[in-house]
Amino acid sequence: MNARFPDWNIHVGAPHPFNAEAPLIDNGSARPAPDRYFDRGYMAAEWEHLWTRTWLLAGTTSDLRDAGDFIRFDIATESFIVARTDDGALKAHYNVCPHRGSQIVMGDFGSVDEFVCPFHNWRFALDGACTAVTDRQTFDPKVLCHDHNLTPVRCEEVAGLVFITMNDAAPPLREWLGPVADHLALYDIGAMNVIQHKKSDWAANWKGGVDAFYEIYHLHAVHPQTQCVMDDRTQIDLYPNGMSRQFVPFAQPSPRFPDQESINPGIQMMLADAGIDPATYAGTAQESRAAIQQAKRIRAKTYGLDYDRFSDTQLSDSTIYGVFPNVQIGCHPEAVFLHRFLPHPDDPNQFTYDTCILFKHLDAPGYAPPAWMGLAPGTDTTGLTRPDIVRVPLGVPPELGEVLDQDSELLPVVQKGARSRGFRGPLWSEQEARLRHFHTELDRYLDGGKEDAKA
Ligand SMILES: [Fe+2]
Repeated sequence: MNARFPDWNIHVGAPHPFNAEAPLIDNGSARPAPDRYFDRGYMAAEWEHLWTRTWLLAGTTSDLRDAGDFIRFDIATESFIVARTDDGALKAHYNVCPHRGSQIVMGDFGSVDEFVCPFHNWRFALDGACTAVTDRQTFDPKVLCHDHNLTPVRCEEVAGLVFITMNDAAPPLREWLGPVADHLALYDIGAMNVIQHKKSDWAANWKGGVDAFYEIYHLHAVHPQTQCVMDDRTQIDLYPNGMSRQFVPFAQPSPRFPDQESINPGIQMMLADAGIDPATYAGTAQESRAAIQQAKRIRAKTYGLDYDRFSDTQLSDSTIYGVFPNVQIGCHPEAVFLHRFLPHPDDPNQFTYDTCILFKHLDAPGYAPPAWMGLAPGTDTTGLTRPDIVRVPLGVPPELGEVLDQDSELLPVVQKGARSRGFRGPLWSEQEARLRHFHTELDRYLDGGKEDAKA
């Protein structure tokens, strides 16, 4: 059953509760005004009513396993420190010294006993408590009666993901994530390690990034090379609070692609991902998806992996989650691909595309992150070393693999068009239902102050 697209039955394997469709949500048919993509006033309103009100993905628990581990999370003009304390709790604070306002942490991640402000060496425990004021005797005691601990923000973890919110009235993280929390928990992201992390600056609004990655309608036009190996028919599920899911069938040519038989190089790559030797594989391209599902089940049994929790679809396809407002997570049993679309501090025509590949090493022949993720050759996948974040400035190809690099070339073109007086706002198809769902939720924050109502 595929209520949104009745002709598209994408689940080829055995029925599984994971594949069940969410009830349809009617988000109407309005055409939103395009100023949301470029207007500075709209950008300021987003800061006031969205970014400071909602939960934000700050990082992954793989970077915060042991006491003293910390990460820095920057969004627009703000910066936060998230740390694992000695009692195992996660604590988050603004990355600001209470003394004179200097930022304290400049690195992206690491492990420390305490935080020391670089300006006058004031010291802070992992839980944010100020433990040393340099030359304390030179302060009027009444000055130090003012709170001089770090300023806390709420921080919670679910399914190996760490979120913060600046909003004390926001609902608990798990409640806000809804069904998506349990779905993500299946992938055991907390046991995976970051093996590649890149941040590239793109000349587009952050929502242009979300929009592009929330649909596969554009594959035939922007990424025609995927047509031989990715079916662009899909199932889309919408959940409360702007969350969504989408299945992207892999190892099966699109119906738009003329050759449904030959084992093309893309199919060969995906067969190899599942441990099938393409040279001896006797099936057709159409049959390769089911063959991959079976091969992965056999491999899982061999290596003691619990794949019963996954549907056949989850084994072969990319199962994609949209976490409102700015996160997409491409899930595979072996690895997940985390995308974050981070707004620029003051230019609505730029955003930072932050991508992480997380993988749990397994010593098995051919077992690796899916090849489509575009892992750089020679990447250490053991998880023993956390790689540094690679930063790519505006205008330089991000080298994220052919598909994502194509997106990076197109998005500035879309951004330029969106700013035209001739553009009257997007017209979304049902293949773009996740976009309408996302923008409808965004409107609830911007128009009515969704989370303000609870404050
Ligand atoms: Fe794309």
